[in-house]
Amino acid sequence: MIDIHCHILPGVDDGPLGMEETRQILAEAQKAGVKTIIATPHYSHGLYENGMVGQVFDRVKTEAKNYGIELYRGYEIKIHQYPARMPDDYRDLDLAGSKYILMELPFKDFPSYTFDLIYQLQINGFYGYYCPSGKMQEACR
Ligand SMILES: [Fe+2]
Repeated sequence: MIDIHCHILPGVDDGPLGMEETRQILAEAQKAGVKTIIATPHYSHGLYENGMVGQVFDRVKTEAKNYGIELYRGYEIKIHQYPARMPDDYRDLDLAGSKYILMELPFKDFPSYTFDLIYQLQINGFYGYYCPSGKMQEACR
C-alpha cells in the first residue's frame, strides 16, 4: 500500500510536533501494511529554499526504514498562494518524481484561474492530479 498524502515531517506545518509522534505514525502505517509514503508538506517559499525541510525529510526517511517503509518527497500546493507560478515551475513539486501533483484549494473559494491552471499543467506534461478537498475534486472532474 502507498500513502501519497501524508503530513509526517515533524515540526513542518500540518505534521506532528516531534519525532516521537512521527514514529507513532510510521508504526501505525506499518501495521496497516503501508510500504511507501510520500511526505507532502505544504509547499511554502522560504521553508524549502533554506534547506530546513530537506534536513527533516532526510531524518524521517532514515527512521522510516526501521519500519520497512520507503519515504519519498512530495508537496501539497495551495494553488491560491501561488497564482503566478507557471506550470513549468511545478516540475520540482511533483509527487516522488512522477507526473502527479497534489493541489489544494481554499476550503470554500474557487479561484477563477483553476481550470486554466489545470489545462496549462496538462499541456506541460502533467497527466494526473490528486485533489483532496471538496472544491478541488469538483475542479478535477
Ligand atoms: Fe494535506
